Amino acid sequence: MTLKINALETRRFGMVCAGIDGMASQLPDLAEVNRQAQMQGVAMISVRVDVSALDRVHTLEADGYRLMDTLVYYNGNLAQDRPALSLPTGISFRVATPQDAEAVGSLARLCFKNYIGHYHSDPRLDSKAADAAYAEWAERSVRQVSARDPVFLVLQGDDIAGFLTTRTRADDAHEFVLNGVAPEYQGRGLYAALLNAAARMIDAEAQGQEPQALLSISTQINNYGVQRVWARMGLVHSQSFYTFHKWFTL
Ligand SMILES: CC(C)(COP(=O)(O)OP(=O)(O)OC[C@H]1O[C@@H](n2cnc3c(N)ncnc32)[C@H](O)[C@@H]1OP(=O)(O)O)[C@@H](O)C(=O)NCCC(=O)NCCS
Repeated sequence: MTLKINALETRRFGMVCAGIDGMASQLPDLAEVNRQAQMQGVAMISVRVDVSALDRVHTLEADGYRLMDTLVYYNGNLAQDRPALSLPTGISFRVATPQDAEAVGSLARLCFKNYIGHYHSDPRLDSKAADAAYAEWAERSVRQVSARDPVFLVLQGDDIAGFLTTRTRADDAHEFVLNGVAPEYQGRGLYAALLNAAARMIDAEAQGQEPQALLSISTQINNYGVQRVWARMGLVHSQSFYTFHKWFTL
């Protein structure tokens, strides 16, 4: 088990941030982790643990790790012959190109302002830097967009109203990663419509070659609205993870 410096978080928050490799499968030797953290000047360690691994959870708690959020994963069959949802007037969908990167980044900053994820939940992390983390993440996904990992947009006229980034995992599951609808367009069913359209477009692209393809999506446990949408899409809650932070600075 080794400490792994997280370069992205380190740059983002202006302090040395790290994770622990191998955390998913074994009880960590925290004395060794602490020794490595001191040697490398680590300010904060962030780890995710399956909620079922209570031995690991209790070991982390005893060592000063504090709970920051709980992530729930929903999975289901991608190919479900979903009918298209009816849309408000003027709404359309398209796949993003790298030229959309900046606009999607700005949109993500608005959607995820003061969000409920582990960065915003930690009072010791700057909330503006946490907002920026989501903007950067969304922008980078659009810049690196590919046929394997498309980003979908919902538009009102020419205006980008919402976005949904995806990635194809090593197990070939299609994961919907980061998604949001601009505050001024919320509450009109656009999120549900975007998910439905994205699933239909990926399914059509696969043209029946992946009949068993899995669709996977995650969020914080208290993000209730989106989970209602996922349940209606036939996805089921299948895994949960706690996120902990430990601080080494006063
Ligand atoms: C979550 C979000 C995408 C919803 O967008 P939206 O277009 O307003 O969603 P919809 O109109 O399709 O509504 C979806 C469901 O969420 C519910 N909902 C929307 N906003 C909500 C809120 N603030 N609190 C509770 N439920 C909410 C709606 O009531 C609806 O559920 P229902 O059909 O059972 O009534 C949008 O609020 C957002 O961008 N939030 C911040 C980012 C985020 O949470 N992204 C998703 C996880 S990565």
